[in-house]
Amino acid sequence: MMQQQALQGLRERLGPAGFTDDASDLAPWLTDWRGWRTGRALAMASPASLEEVRFVVQAAVAERIPIVPQGGNTSMVAGATPEADGQAIILSLRRMRRIRAVSIEDNALVAEAGVVLTQVHDAAAAAGRLFPLSLGAKGSATVGGLVSTNAGGVQVLRYGTMRALTLGVEAVLPDGTVHHGLKALRKDNRGYDLKHLLIGAEGTLGVVTAATLALVPRPVERAVAWVGLVRLDAALPLLRRLEAATGGQISSFEIVPQAGLDLVTHHLANARAPLAGRHQWHVLIEADTSRPGDPLADAMRDSLGAAVESGEVADAVIAGSEAQAEALWLLRESLPEAERREGGAAKHDIAVSVADMPAFIIQTAPAVESAFPGARVLAFGHLGDGNVHFNVRAPEGADGEAWLRQNSGAINRFVDDAVVAMGGTISAEHGIGVLKRDEFVRLAEPGRLEWMRAVKSALDPLGIMNPGKLLPPCD
Ligand code: MLT
Ligand code: ZN
Repeated sequence: MMQQQALQGLRERLGPAGFTDDASDLAPWLTDWRGWRTGRALAMASPASLEEVRFVVQAAVAERIPIVPQGGNTSMVAGATPEADGQAIILSLRRMRRIRAVSIEDNALVAEAGVVLTQVHDAAAAAGRLFPLSLGAKGSATVGGLVSTNAGGVQVLRYGTMRALTLGVEAVLPDGTVHHGLKALRKDNRGYDLKHLLIGAEGTLGVVTAATLALVPRPVERAVAWVGLVRLDAALPLLRRLEAATGGQISSFEIVPQAGLDLVTHHLANARAPLAGRHQWHVLIEADTSRPGDPLADAMRDSLGAAVESGEVADAVIAGSEAQAEALWLLRESLPEAERREGGAAKHDIAVSVADMPAFIIQTAPAVESAFPGARVLAFGHLGDGNVHFNVRAPEGADGEAWLRQNSGAINRFVDDAVVAMGGTISAEHGIGVLKRDEFVRLAEPGRLEWMRAVKSALDPLGIMNPGKLLPPCD
């Protein structure tokens, strides 16, 4: 009864654009991007302002209604999907889509939580700046989700993750108070950093409503290369050689195995392999400069030419135009979608030290394939920062979905044990959500969960903020 009254209060305050409990409106937001979890929800509230978010949180707290914050619903770990019990409301931030300010002097902009990443890129570009974080889901992923998951992407090598690029955060905390932390302070040394608690908290400590994001000078030129490698362990010497040759201007260094390129060229209309031959490993490399007249392309061409001559690199091509550069990036960015269309995979978003990653792949891929006969490892991604998506696909010809449901638990444990044995992390950029929670709990180092639970229960004593994500629900 009280719950119904609370929902009615939300309906009245938010109006038809801001509140729905209609099953067909809710349906697209109840299943995660990978299609692994489908939940239910009492309703979806879509506030359009900070005050409205506050109203929703206060109403939910008063009636102990769990809140599941949601942005573009692109989580790889079902971090924004409500539980199956249907007791929660989805708090969509998608109507909060204003760029509140752009400051060239501060080299920063303030974006509301529902602003989509491409909109941030456009706003930065209009001010002659770059927001240097990008990822495949840039057309749907929102600022609130990027902050709340400490997203990474394809330029972490040079610019860092959201944690490095978020100068300030505005958030509604579970007691209904607002953390007004948008001021772009480059230094603030007053003890515990509340901003960093909220970044990567996956909506379990409060609702991020806006963020101040750091900008950098806009590149005037980029050199984008596609390289075929003779061996995976030639990759890092190549990266360091190119960094030296360009004065540290390599922003992306992404590996793609031949099998991954085959998937993309199969599924993406008009896609063509960039190189004539087949190579076990490919690398997509981008270097950027914001200095007019910088001989960046020459440096890349000379270094890659020398690497081909010495036999370290089998073949390489440098994009001759922006259109070609975009086409190379599209091949890389289409890989998760191509993998999904082929039936998906047991995904492992792992990192070890950069130096250890080639050895990790070289050792662990055959080990997985022999422990799970027929399984096909597809390892791709951000080798330059030590984070690779070490995904395991079902055997050719198998019923992929059934095989994955049956085997993914054991595969996850196998891969995650290997990662931990090398001192790595089982979640480098996707977060924990619900899909990685059991493994996180199984492998967390002593004290880590207790420490996190202490923070959670101090800030969210009722346990209503995105319950079941990151940590198991409170008893
Ligand atoms: C990527 O790097 O493409 C994304 O993190 C997505 C994925 O892991 O599939
Ligand atoms: Zn990634």
